[in-house]
Amino acid sequence: MEQKRIVVGVAGGIAAFKACTVVRQLKEAGHSVRVVPTESALKFIAAATFEALSGQPVHTGVFENVDEVPHVRIGQQADLVVVAPATADLMARAAAGRADDLLTGTLLTARCPVLFAPAMHTEMWFHPATTDNVATLRRRGNVVLEPASGRLTGADTGPGRLPEAEEITTLAGLLLERGDALPYDMAGVKVLVTAGGTREPLDPVRFIGNRSSGKQGYAVARVMAQRGADVTLIAGNTSGLADPAGVEVVHIGSAAQLGAAVTKLAPEAQVLVMAAAVADFRPAQVATAKIKKRVDDDSAPSVELVRNDDVLAGAVRARADGQLPNMKVIVGFAAETGDANGDVLFHARSKLKRKGCDMLVVNAVGEGKAFEVDHNDGWMLSADGTETALEHGSKTLMASRIVDAIGALLHR
Ligand code: CTP
Repeated sequence: MEQKRIVVGVAGGIAAFKACTVVRQLKEAGHSVRVVPTESALKFIAAATFEALSGQPVHTGVFENVDEVPHVRIGQQADLVVVAPATADLMARAAAGRADDLLTGTLLTARCPVLFAPAMHTEMWFHPATTDNVATLRRRGNVVLEPASGRLTGADTGPGRLPEAEEITTLAGLLLERGDALPYDMAGVKVLVTAGGTREPLDPVRFIGNRSSGKQGYAVARVMAQRGADVTLIAGNTSGLADPAGVEVVHIGSAAQLGAAVTKLAPEAQVLVMAAAVADFRPAQVATAKIKKRVDDDSAPSVELVRNDDVLAGAVRARADGQLPNMKVIVGFAAETGDANGDVLFHARSKLKRKGCDMLVVNAVGEGKAFEVDHNDGWMLSADGTETALEHGSKTLMASRIVDAIGALLHR
């Protein structure tokens, strides 16, 4: 990606130390980073730390280098502003349009996407004043992340933790790729996402698995949650992905467990996104003790396989039978290669018909594409015949386009 100018605003909270990792990750991605802390942020982290990490001067007020009019210039030139942590006070000042320091001045002059990553105590987060300020900032097109839940400054726990640096920089990268803000258009929508690969046990130590990394499904869950949806993620095996902020995660192992979780949770959901790589077959027998090789000959055991239920087709059937009255959009995923019978799109079109879902997201696989990589491309095929190409980009960008399309189907 070409080098962008990013302003990292840092407000005064205990989580200010995490801004150092955010700055480092954005620099490592090749961007130019200017850190603008508030006066109180410098009570937690010294200006020298931010100067060393960013390679740029650090000021808090509007009366340093006045000849360069920094409170106007920094905001005007920015491609993205990320405020991490965004305290209750900082968001109150931003919502009120104040410009009493360099950071709020920058926020008032910036015309690029702005991302706030809040961190505060749970009581402050849920206070009506903060709720109103967050709503105001979102209405104006700013992206205000959902805070993570967990341990806060003291012994207390709850929503209010700063999302991990990785989560913040992933979403910052998404805003740069999209070039516009992420709409807050899924508020209150209940979404069920499956992701990762299933593992079909052979014996207590072995399983049959697949190469799904879970990245695409996690990205859909993450983007849905940041657009306001109430998201549950049914997660199979992944490449060690962290739970996305603001998402409830249910971990499962086998296809049967995934199927049971979908059956239990789908009646509540309005959207089902089946990004998981569900095994089509499982061993007919699961040995209760480890299968040993024989010492007296070189023979190998045969493994008999039986079919697993098709979870996606089952959900489509259940909806047709009236068992999922809330369900409005069912999305399947397919990783395809072309073969002698036809190309990737040929197979995808027939899979969309066979599965009966509302939309099928298709990736071409093979030659190192789709699995275990961060960037990809593909198509979205809808039951109404629309076919949209997914431009090449990060799996988070693809997730945001998929959520755009789901939004269009939901609101049609
Ligand atoms: N899927 C499912 N249950 C299965 C297998 C697949 O719900 N037992 C879902 C996947 O989550 C995905 C979609 O079906 O959303 C397509 O998966 P894929 O493996 O491509 O479909 P298959 O019907 O197994 O087709 P193929 O014969 O090409 O493997």
